[in-house]
Amino acid sequence: MAANWKMNTLPGGAGALVEEYGDEMLCGNPELVVCPPFTHLAALGLTLGAAGCLGAQNCSEHLSGAFTSEISAAMLRDLGCRYVILGHSECRLRNPMESLRIPEKIAQALAHGLTPIYCCGEDLPIRQSGAELDFIARQLADDLPPELKLNSHKLVIAYEPVWAIGTGKHASPEMAQQMHVFIRSRLKDMMGIEAERTRILYGGSVQADNAAGFASQTDIDGVLVGGASLKPADFRAIFGAFAAKGQ
Ligand code: 13P
Repeated sequence: MAANWKMNTLPGGAGALVEEYGDEMLCGNPELVVCPPFTHLAALGLTLGAAGCLGAQNCSEHLSGAFTSEISAAMLRDLGCRYVILGHSECRLRNPMESLRIPEKIAQALAHGLTPIYCCGEDLPIRQSGAELDFIARQLADDLPPELKLNSHKLVIAYEPVWAIGTGKHASPEMAQQMHVFIRSRLKDMMGIEAERTRILYGGSVQADNAAGFASQTDIDGVLVGGASLKPADFRAIFGAFAAKGQ
């Protein structure tokens, strides 16, 4: 389970929001990853970092140097991060060069002990034209670097159809399951047997009232949650649906 707070909340309120999630979620099964804005990482590093469940929302493809405004994987690790979201569609859409940088970003993350939560997903015209499987196959082939062959157990994939993000129009659990099976089969072809262990999350308008449907699908290992992760009661209900899956 991963919470993507996007550009929401203030640093001073981050600790309180996490406290509202409750101890059960922070120490629980399924594993939880909280990805707040960069400005909140230092404050949350002491608690979530120690628990191994702090993540960032992006990182630079560079090691260090004259890259004004960028944040390196080493900096994130030093703040206690264990995860980093890479390739989110909101970053890809805002910055046309973002997609080209993803292989280097994944390589930087792995080199610094961060587990990438790599996002892929088709937009509405691609889904409507029926070309979503070809599109996702291309995204995986373009974005995943060769280093992953040795580290694929450290990769988390998030299938996030762009048309489902923040729209309230989520994919049906069956639709998501079909795509997750496809993604796993592509990973197997690209990386071999390790792909069996790769966790594949669904993201896009996951809510308290639809989480159980996603949890019921064999290949949906978890969810990447945006808006509902800012509402502790809703997020706890989503967590509960996946906790039940693990039993
Ligand atoms: P919503 O859950 O708000 O649709 O956002 C999904 C997402 O983009 C998570 O990364």
